[in-house]
Parts: sequence; structure tokens; C-alpha cells
Amino acid sequence: MVTKSHGWSVITAKRFFRRTAVDGERHAGLIREAAGFVEAFHREFPGEGRAERLSEIRDEIELTGSYTHTGEELAYGAKVAWRNSSRCIGRLYWRSLQVRDLRRVTGAKEVAAGCFEHLAEANSGGRIRPTITVFAPDRPGESGPRIWNDQLIRYAGYRRPDGGVVGDPANADFTEAALKLGWPGGPRTAFDVLPLIVEAPGAEPAVFEVPRDVVHEVQLVHPDHPWFADLGLRWHAVPAISDMALEIGGIRYPGAPFSGWYMGTEIGARNFGDADRYNLLPVVAARLGLDTTSEATLWRDRAMVELNVAVLHSFRSAGVTITDHHTESRRFLAHLAQEERAGRICPADWSWIVPPLSGSATPVFHRSFENADLRPGYVRGTCPYRPSRSDQ
Ligand code: ARG
Repeated sequence: MVTKSHGWSVITAKRFFRRTAVDGERHAGLIREAAGFVEAFHREFPGEGRAERLSEIRDEIELTGSYTHTGEELAYGAKVAWRNSSRCIGRLYWRSLQVRDLRRVTGAKEVAAGCFEHLAEANSGGRIRPTITVFAPDRPGESGPRIWNDQLIRYAGYRRPDGGVVGDPANADFTEAALKLGWPGGPRTAFDVLPLIVEAPGAEPAVFEVPRDVVHEVQLVHPDHPWFADLGLRWHAVPAISDMALEIGGIRYPGAPFSGWYMGTEIGARNFGDADRYNLLPVVAARLGLDTTSEATLWRDRAMVELNVAVLHSFRSAGVTITDHHTESRRFLAHLAQEERAGRICPADWSWIVPPLSGSATPVFHRSFENADLRPGYVRGTCPYRPSRSDQ
């Protein structure tokens, strides 16, 4: 690999390394994407130096086959990638994203340490701060480090011989992969925190236990039903997506875990309510004494509401940031209006934006949205331990 050094002009370097036609084409494509990004960056931060920056990038690409974002470009790109996430209802605060620049980091151990620090900083004593940590990008001939987990904190799902699962069934494949890599497994509770699996360039995936002190969890209680605590439910405070690559101006950062705070329905309706997750509606309905012999009693709906009440109440009493779907729907429409005023389209996927509980009681239900797949963006590739599934 070639790095820029003094006394070596770009011209001599170009003559010295005769580019192949394939390189030429790839470089041209990358230069186009970089130019699109730099234009957008300078439109939002008008200032001097756009042409200089572009020619600098062009030189670096011709020399090395890649280019390096400035700290400002990286921060802006990560924020705009959030702004472009058409499935996310929480985008009003996209400007406040804390960007941790760990682009020098490629080793598995260092990546794991960076992730643990991310969790501590994002949690920040319960006042959760939207945060991203960006590790080394892909470069020609060398991939950046990649994290196998879909979130930094997830609960194991252990398959039982009878076909059932102890824990979170969504993570059963990952749990099996971790066990195969030598993870001894946890105590087999319904909430064993999975280890982190990091694949560094050119190395076998490495397994790291997540230190307890960066895993903040909330024990679930219900404001009106003391028995609810006996269910022994808990959930972690920080949702940190770790299996999506950040793409900015043609550069791909495969290791770029990002986190916000929870909206209650993600836990109360989906993680606990889905039949193929913790499947708790029948359990809660039974404890509530509901008549489950007929769908028409709406026992599922009533159980789901009480589960969601418990989630919001417990997070709030524990002093951990959380939001409800009514508030978040309104905020999303405020964000949309703000984007329109700025002359941008705000891509949105209705089926993801509308909350899974009481959809039509929120304003986002009653309208449609434009959608688009924009860059910068967060994109999901193939799953390393379940290659057939790339989207979830
Ligand atoms: N729905 C996912 C979960 O329940 C988290 C997705 C990201 N959510 C967020 N609020 N940033 O864990």
C-alpha cells in the first residue's frame, strides 16, 4: 500500500503505479460518490475550499484507491445517515448524534473495548445520548472490522430439545454461533447477555464477554399490579445496532455501532409481545384474569397495553430515557415539517413508522410518506452466521 509522503509528487506516483482499467473505473465511481457527498457537505456548511477538497480527494483516490474523511465530514455523514433512515421515527434529534471517531482501530480486542466504552457513554447515567462509534473503513484489499452481533446488547436464546427456546428466540442462531466459537454460555436465564463477536481484518472472529458494568438494565414493574414484578422481566437501556455499515461518499464503514433510546412499544409490543419473541401476551392475560377463550374479548390487546404501561413506567421510575409512541409520532411530524422547510425530502417507510400499538391513535397513521434509499446511509449486508438472511 502507498501512503502520501513528502518528495513524492502525485504525478510520479501515477506513472510508477500503472493503473489497470478496472482500478480506473472503480476510482471514477468512487470520485463521483465522493463529489456528491462533498457537494452536499458544502451546501449545508457553506465555506471556502470545496474545489480544493475535491481535488485533494481525487489525488488520494488515484494514489491509494480510497480517501479519508475529515472529522467534520465523518460527523456530518453519520448524522445525515441517521436523517436518511426511512424506518426510524426518532429522527428529530439527528443533529445531536455524538460521533466517536475510532477509525484508527482495527484489532478485535480494541474494537470490543471501543464498543464497551460506547455503551457507557451512550447510557450516561440514564440520560441516554444518541451515539455512534466509527471503526476503520473498508479499503481496497482490506475490510474494516465487523461486529457479528446485531446489537451490542442482546439476550441469548438457547434452543431446547423440545423445540422451544429459553430466552430470546430472535437470537437463537447467534447464540448457537457463539457457543460454536467457544462461548461457554450463560446461566440459561431468559435474559443472559450475549458476548460480543468481532471479526477483525484477516483474523478469525473473536468472542468477548460484555462487562456487567456497561450493561444497564431496567427491572419491569407495573404501577397498579404488584404481581407484575414476579414475572422477572427486564430489558436493557440502550439499543445499539451493530450489524449495519455506515456508507458515506462511497466509503463503507462496516463496524459502526449506533444507538439512541427506546420507544416503549419496541419492548412492550414487539420484543415481549411477538409470538416468535418472548410471547408474553398469554402470560400477562392470565395474570390479569382475562377471558382468553375468545379473541373477541380482546385479551391480547388489553395485555399488550398493560405490558407497555409497565415498560414506560419502569424506565421512567429508573431514570432511564424512554419515549412513548404518541409523543414520538408527533415529534416525527415536526421533523418532517422541518425537513420540508429546509427543502429536503424526508424519506419514510409508513409500515415501520406507524407504531405497533394503537397505530390509528397516532397522527403518523393518517398520512402517507415519500420514501427513498439515500446516502449517506446505514445499510445491512449479509449476516456472517446466517448467510441467507440479510434483512430483518
Ligand atoms: N427495535 C429494536 C429493539 O427492540 C431496536 C431498534 C433501534 N431502536 C431505537 N430506539 N433506536 O431492540
